Amino acid sequence: MSVSDEFDDWAARGKDRGMEDRHWHTAKHVLARMPVEAGDTVLDLGSGSGYAGRALKETADAGRAYGIDASPAMAANARSYTDDGDVGFLVGDFEHLPFETDTVDHCFSMEAFYYASDPHAVLDEVARVLRPGGTFHCAVNYYEENVHSHAWDELVEVPMTRWSGPEYREAFREAGLAVAVQDNVPDREIEIPPASEFPTEDWETREAMVERYREFGTLVTVGVAP
Ligand SMILES: C[S@@+](CC[C@H](N)C(=O)[O-])C[C@H]1O[C@@H](n2cnc3c(N)ncnc32)[C@H](O)[C@@H]1O
Repeated sequence: MSVSDEFDDWAARGKDRGMEDRHWHTAKHVLARMPVEAGDTVLDLGSGSGYAGRALKETADAGRAYGIDASPAMAANARSYTDDGDVGFLVGDFEHLPFETDTVDHCFSMEAFYYASDPHAVLDEVARVLRPGGTFHCAVNYYEENVHSHAWDELVEVPMTRWSGPEYREAFREAGLAVAVQDNVPDREIEIPPASEFPTEDWETREAMVERYREFGTLVTVGVAP
């Protein structure tokens, strides 16, 4: 199944808002770290419901916030959640960004990068469109060290790339992005039941759930354009 077919189906079933609710726990911390200044142009790769663009416009006074998503239904839903004319949603593949070279101040992506058929091409594109000193805050929950994520590729019919932290850093550098920082943002909001309630439908042990959310959380790699 293509990425757009898979996520059109998710959007039609309202799962875009469900993802927003779950991802917001850690995404909001990543968004708050972005050095966005008033008037900046920001771009969200794989924007889903579009919460990142809305948040950067509202909280950091971004001048223009764009989201790009392969799924027309996701982009349509995202458009319906805002009436801000400076927040726009494009349909397209983030391996081919429809922006001129050196025109974007900061890029963000949450739980989308690893769906790229060629992740290196995405990084090349990000490095091309970013202005000097611009950043790419790339956040993923599906990554090698997070052993609890390894079976997720069985849940979707789209190929996924599972890199480790060092592989992210190496790929960023290969694309010409300096790695400013890489760390894990824990999800402190998801409710973890008491030990007596395990196993649950999703978790064998409480320890495993604690490790997944409170320790591994979201892997964030921040690249800076030279
Ligand atoms: C798991 S959702 C995450 C959405 C949102 N970032 C969030 O945090 O809730 C992944 C999104 O990335 C989009 N996507 C995946 N591969 C893509 C690609 N190559 N180009 C553009 N969008 C893509 C999907 O259509 C989907 O909306």
